[in-house]
Amino acid sequence: MKPDLLLTQPMSPDLERALDAAYVVHRPYADPGLLEKVGGKIRAVVTGGQLGLPAPIWDQLPALELIAVNGVGLDAVDLERAKSKGVRVTTTPDVLTDDVADLAIGLWLSLSRRMTVADRYVRDGRWPGHEPLALATRASGRRIGILGLGQIGRAIAARAAPFAAEVAYHSRRPVEGAPYAYAASPLALAERSDVLFVSVAGGAQSRALVDATVLKALGPRGLLINVARGSVVDEAALITALEAGELAGAGLDVFADEPNVPAALLVREDVVLQPHRGSATVEGRAAMGRLVLENLAAHFAVAPARR
Ligand code: 8YV
Repeated sequence: MKPDLLLTQPMSPDLERALDAAYVVHRPYADPGLLEKVGGKIRAVVTGGQLGLPAPIWDQLPALELIAVNGVGLDAVDLERAKSKGVRVTTTPDVLTDDVADLAIGLWLSLSRRMTVADRYVRDGRWPGHEPLALATRASGRRIGILGLGQIGRAIAARAAPFAAEVAYHSRRPVEGAPYAYAASPLALAERSDVLFVSVAGGAQSRALVDATVLKALGPRGLLINVARGSVVDEAALITALEAGELAGAGLDVFADEPNVPAALLVREDVVLQPHRGSATVEGRAAMGRLVLENLAAHFAVAPARR
């Protein structure tokens, strides 16, 4: 008998097809009353990194054995609860690292070179009239700071280093063998950086790590790039800093309340905005999907059916 599985959000057609072939897939986002009917027999959840498993859904899943995250973020999964209930949690590490790092570099370059502004200038037909277009700032030769030197942070550092005057980082503790200078705090890192990349895991321990003080230290020529979680940056402080000219710009793939982006950001030219697309490549999503399937299969190969 196929195990019952809860899919919390739409995923790539290939992954959904493969899930449908091996499991009885329930899709509550397409049918609001569904959980009440099937919650009791759900053995596994497949979910995204941002959404994780909200408590009100979990409360309706007494037979849950596995949460398979299609991503690397665990900040939206209550790991304590999982541990106490013996629920396994899996992620898709490694396969999205390059994609997220590529996007971080892309955000930085398009922000410094004002590429999105210039793109609009061309599309709006302002070029033939020789309308003035403000100069960009040089990307090369800047001091780069990496907040969170995990896999993604290291991939960003490796890409940024050839452009950079120097690369420094802050993590909870120095990373052995890392060829970059260690800064003792986010503030110390911001003080010595022109471009601050945020690549730290989300969750309570990193909430608002980038606050008004850190942004001020980054300074009026500083750029903030966030491909981690919106929760790591105090979004209100970011808007205030941009509006006050205390920060030169921000490249953001993640936000405090996705998919809602503050109107104050939408109107600005000194920001480049993405709808949480770090891992959203054909190759990345295919590899993530394969890992999700492997994680499910590995679990059900050894887990006896409870019913
Ligand atoms: C995905 C992510 O957008 O890995 C994560 O934690 O946030 C992203 O890779 C998401 O998990 C896809 O559902």
